[in-house]
Amino acid sequence: MIVLGIETSCDETAAAVVDGERRILANIVLSQLDAHRPYGGVVPEIAARAHVEAVDDVVARALSEAGVDFGALSGVAVTGGPGLIGGVMVGVMTAKAMALARELPFVAVNHLEAHALTVRLTDDIAFPYLLLLVSGGHCQLLAVEDVGRYRRLGTTIDDALGEAFDKSAKMLGLGYPGGPQVEARARDGDDMRFDLPRPMRGRAGCHFSFSGLKTKVRQAIENLPAGDLREQDVADLCASFQRAAGDVLEDRCRNAMDMFRDLHGTDGPLVVAGGVAANQYLRDRLEALALDRGAAFAVPPVALCTDNGAMVAWAGLERLRRGEADPLDFHPRPRWPLDPEAEPVAFAGAKA
Ligand code: KG4
Ligand code: ZN
Repeated sequence: MIVLGIETSCDETAAAVVDGERRILANIVLSQLDAHRPYGGVVPEIAARAHVEAVDDVVARALSEAGVDFGALSGVAVTGGPGLIGGVMVGVMTAKAMALARELPFVAVNHLEAHALTVRLTDDIAFPYLLLLVSGGHCQLLAVEDVGRYRRLGTTIDDALGEAFDKSAKMLGLGYPGGPQVEARARDGDDMRFDLPRPMRGRAGCHFSFSGLKTKVRQAIENLPAGDLREQDVADLCASFQRAAGDVLEDRCRNAMDMFRDLHGTDGPLVVAGGVAANQYLRDRLEALALDRGAAFAVPPVALCTDNGAMVAWAGLERLRRGEADPLDFHPRPRWPLDPEAEPVAFAGAKA
C-alpha cells in the first residue's frame, strides 16, 4: 500500500509518500515562516494564498522523490481539519481533485489523529498508549485505543503550551515560532533565577492551564531594570519558563498514567507528539518520568513532531487498510475533537 499525504492546515505546505512497510518514500515540507515573520504569528489569509501557490509543486516533488506516479498510489490522504480553514480547504480541494481524476480513494484525516499515530509509523507502537499531544493549538492527554478511538483524559482550560512558548518568546523579543528560540536561549540560562508558577500542579486529574505562567513571564520582564533586556535575562527567563513547563507536564502526565492504569492496567507506553514534542529538554523530562514508572516511552524524531505530510499519509494508510475512506463531498472541519464524548471543560473553548 502506498499513500500520498497532504498537509496545509497551518503554515507548512507539506506532502509525503509512505508505504505499508512503514517507509517514508518522500517527505517535503515547505515552511511559510518568512511570509508570516513580520507579523509575529500566522496570518490565515496569507497562509491560504501561499498554500494555493505552493501545493501543486510540493505534491509533484513528493511523488517524484518517491519515484511513484498516481497509478502506484492506493489513496490520497489530506488534513481535513482542525486548523485554519482557508488552508484546510486548499489541501482538501487539491486532494479531492486528484482522487476524482485518478479514481483513487480519498481520505480526510484529522490533523490531531495524524500527530497521534505518528509513533506507529516511526516506532511501530501498539494500541493502547497514553498520548501527550502538545502543539501550538492543543494540549491534551489521551488514551489512544485504536484508529479513530480516543479517550480524552485532560486538556488545557486556556492556552496550549506551544502558544505559551510563542507568546513568551514574543515578549522576550524573540522571533516566531517561539518554541525553538526559547529552547535555544534556555541552554545558556539559569532555570532557578525566576520563580515562575506551575499552574495546576498537585491538583487531581490532568487538565492544564498556561495563561498564568505567561502572565508571570510578562511581570518578570516588567520588574527588570528599564531598557533593553540583557542577553542573560532572556536566557534565564527562557530556562525558568522551560523548567516550569517541564514540571507541569511531568505532574500532569504522572496523574494521567494513574488514570490510564485504571483504564488499561498499565502505565503506558507514554507517547509525546505535536510541535512542542520537538523540545529536547521536555523530551528528556518525560522520558525520565516513564523510566521512573517502568513504562515504555516513544516520541517521533524532531522533523516528524512539527507539521508534515508523512503523518497525514500514515494516518490515511491506517484508515485505508481498515477499509475506510471518505466521500468526495466531505466538508473541511475547522473544529474536530478526537474524543467527541469528552466532558466539556469550562473555558476550554476550541482547545477542548
Ligand atoms: O504541531 P505544530 O507544528 O503545529 C500545530 O499543529 O500547532 O506545533 C507548532 C508549535 C508552535 O507553538 C511552536 O512554537 C512549538 O510547536 N514548537 C516548540 C519547539 N518546536 C516547535 N516548542 C518548544 N520547543 C521546541 N523546540
Ligand atoms: Zn500540528
